[in-house]
Amino acid sequence: VLIFNTGLPNAEDTVAGTLGSPEATTLPTVGLSYQAGVDLLDAQEVTVSTDTVSATRTTYNVLAETGTGDPENTVMVGAHLDSVLEGAGISDNGTGSAGILAIAEAIAKTKTENNVRFAWWGAEELGLLGAEHYVTDLRDNDPEAFEDIAMYLNFDMIGSPNYGRFVYDGNASTFDPGDTNVPEGSGAIEAAFHEYFASVGLASGDTEFSGRSDYGPFIEAGVPSGGLFTGAEGVKTEEQAELFGGQAGVAYDSCYHSVCDDITNVNLQGMEEMSDAAAAVVLRYAMSTHDVNGEGEPYQ
Ligand code: PHE
Ligand code: ZN
Ligand code: ZN
Ligand code: ZN
Repeated sequence: VLIFNTGLPNAEDTVAGTLGSPEATTLPTVGLSYQAGVDLLDAQEVTVSTDTVSATRTTYNVLAETGTGDPENTVMVGAHLDSVLEGAGISDNGTGSAGILAIAEAIAKTKTENNVRFAWWGAEELGLLGAEHYVTDLRDNDPEAFEDIAMYLNFDMIGSPNYGRFVYDGNASTFDPGDTNVPEGSGAIEAAFHEYFASVGLASGDTEFSGRSDYGPFIEAGVPSGGLFTGAEGVKTEEQAELFGGQAGVAYDSCYHSVCDDITNVNLQGMEEMSDAAAAVVLRYAMSTHDVNGEGEPYQ
């Protein structure tokens, strides 16, 4: 229920169904614990308008953390739980939400060096509202806790039907090099993802690090960030089809933001490859963030 948003045909119902609910409190029974200072359910009011209806609803971020490991060097991992009104949001972003839930369940059984905090964001599709709220709220009201965030890893669309293995371009080689919005350390995170893919013999490429998902508020606030993406409305090139397989001349996700983004709209092979990469990099940083912020021993 929580992982896959309900794509109800009625706009008003859809709003209520996709923006989170108090039942979310059942989610973190995966063995994670919560600490003072971190809301389990981080709520805010948002107003949604369609052609026919405008409604104000409370939306939620769902947060859970290992509660073990260095709390002053917290690795944050996030995915948005909401979808657009048009569809069920399975590729965007049931894939990321399910991916990080699996990682959370697995990591709860390990002993990490660093605290790892998971966030399932609300209202991303309304303008990154959940992540923006979290970052602003924490920075303004508990700056020390905000400073404890060593990095943020984002997973939005990681199982697109005609997928590419894209890593956010944290060293900004593909866009304006004068952009001051890319915190140092983001390049090291990008390298960690590429390194993982190389280690398992899979090709990976770069994708624009432009702030078009929940990492936006984090990089604006100076938090080194990174993440994975398998493509949305963009069209796969010949070169990419050779690298990643799939079909050239076809969108990565031709059901992006539409009614056909349903349970059939996932490439399970892609989802497997990308969630393995996500897990490997989350675990790496759970053990050492040395390459990003110089904390702890270098990663072995
Ligand atoms: N944030 C976009 C959405 O949810 C998807 C996206 C993710 C686009 C990452 C580009 C890069 O619709
Ligand atoms: Zn809040
Ligand atoms: Zn979307
Ligand atoms: Zn998305």
